[in-house]
Amino acid sequence: MILEKAIQEIRDRVERDYGFAPAVGEPRQGYGDLAFPCFEHAAAHKASPAKAAEEVSRGLVGLKHFERAEAANGFVSLYFSPAFYAEALAEFKEGYAKSNAGKKRKLVIDYSSPNVGKPLHVGHIRSTILGDAFARLRTHSGWSVTRSNYLCEAGTQVAMLMVALEEFGIDKVKTERDLLDCYVRISKQFKENPALEEKARDALERMENGDETVWKALHKVREISLAPVRKNYELLGIEFDEEIFDSVLVPRSLEIVEEAKKKGIAFKDEHGETVVKLEDYKLPNFIVLRSNGTTLYSTRDLALADERFEKRAFDECVYVTASEQNTHFRQVFKTLELLGREYAPRLKHVGFGLISIPEGKLSTREGRVLLLEDFLKAAIETAKKEVRARQDYPDAEANKIAEQVAIGATKFAVLRVTPEKGIVFNPAEITRFEGHTGAFLQYSVVRCRGILEKAGRLPAFKAGGEFDEHEKRLCKRLAAFPRVVESASRQLQPHQLCDYLLALADDYSAFYANCPVLKAPEADKAKRLALVKATLGTLEEGLDLLGIQAPEKM
Ligand code: ARG
Repeated sequence: MILEKAIQEIRDRVERDYGFAPAVGEPRQGYGDLAFPCFEHAAAHKASPAKAAEEVSRGLVGLKHFERAEAANGFVSLYFSPAFYAEALAEFKEGYAKSNAGKKRKLVIDYSSPNVGKPLHVGHIRSTILGDAFARLRTHSGWSVTRSNYLCEAGTQVAMLMVALEEFGIDKVKTERDLLDCYVRISKQFKENPALEEKARDALERMENGDETVWKALHKVREISLAPVRKNYELLGIEFDEEIFDSVLVPRSLEIVEEAKKKGIAFKDEHGETVVKLEDYKLPNFIVLRSNGTTLYSTRDLALADERFEKRAFDECVYVTASEQNTHFRQVFKTLELLGREYAPRLKHVGFGLISIPEGKLSTREGRVLLLEDFLKAAIETAKKEVRARQDYPDAEANKIAEQVAIGATKFAVLRVTPEKGIVFNPAEITRFEGHTGAFLQYSVVRCRGILEKAGRLPAFKAGGEFDEHEKRLCKRLAAFPRVVESASRQLQPHQLCDYLLALADDYSAFYANCPVLKAPEADKAKRLALVKATLGTLEEGLDLLGIQAPEKM
């Protein structure tokens, strides 16, 4: 990679001539293209940093990728040479090779993982979209990734639904909306009538014991609730390698509780619940069995980790959920460590802030839900207006473009925020074509394609010639792509890639506004078309890593 090569050239030279390994990085604006500090080197030689930087920079001549070096505030600033730009441009032609930094290490990502019996709402979308981007990024950097969907049904929620089906009549419930209504209605009844709690506990117990009636109801709930969930995945272009239902983990969970008791980690407390004491680790106690002996979400997560490790021998396993579950996962990981699971340090949780709508926080129990499907519909409608305002497409085409724009916009709106922060979701805002949106990036792709189409066969670009300020900027940005992807992948931070792509699109706009492409003199034309092509390839690849497709036209 060109940037790596250039950095290596500097390192080798400084090492050889000055005997230290410089920490080469990106400087503040106005301090060159790359820079490194000389403070330690100065201290070692009892010189002032300014002097040391002065001396080192004077010796940095005759380099291939740099035309000059300057000292500034104890740093050496480096400026790329025309050869750097020419080589960078030649490199883009080949496209970016996938890296093998991951060395085929095994990664399991637990994401989306909705609760059976409920439709996907916008709150779930964050886990789904983030997890998918993690999978794409890590696959790109050479990991072997298992995309795992953990479907939760062995909890109170489904138990309440089963009571509801009994109360309201199982045959009346046909669609996911019926289920949701059932859920809201039964939640109200639960508040008024504590006797129902008993019924729900009983249903759970019967489920754990394999009771036929209960399982029949469970299958019905699964069938109704998962069909639309799967449709949503399809619309979003999200896939999984496996689905795990938590109910199958019950026997294994019970075994682990026994093991924990034997190992002196878990105890029955005064309420009859079995808990793992985690006070010593500054964590709340972890309840693993209810007083009636049924397992909980917590218990099944212990079994799930064992199950996955047995099956996949993962090097890393990442869970993507709302940060409300931060403590839960710390408890799970600590308990597994106390149980002596060697893989425990390989578990990682990424918690994210809540998604709200302009009307406020979402809550299934209170019926304030925004179903993913409805949200996407609204986003598609607003996108369609934007598309139509620009050009009069036939209906089918406008629909297709609007769908791609809306989905891309939704994904981008989720991915560009650091996970810790909350997101307020507004369909009208995220589908705008201007400003820092997914649509703006898609539009940049379409513009690049348009120019290349008009240009026809690309003239061969030969090295040599000058790069002006805008061309340089764009070229440097392009050269940074592999590093950004590597960093986003390693740290599981897709927003780094989002920021990068926005900056790239901005640089491209500035380049395009200032440097005529098709009307440029022959030598410039070849170079500029090469830049357009490289920008296109980078935008497409970057968007693909975020799970976003660009429409043919828009
Ligand atoms: N179903 C849970 C929820 O919607 C998330 C499950 C996350 N994965 C896990 N292994 N606990 O809150």
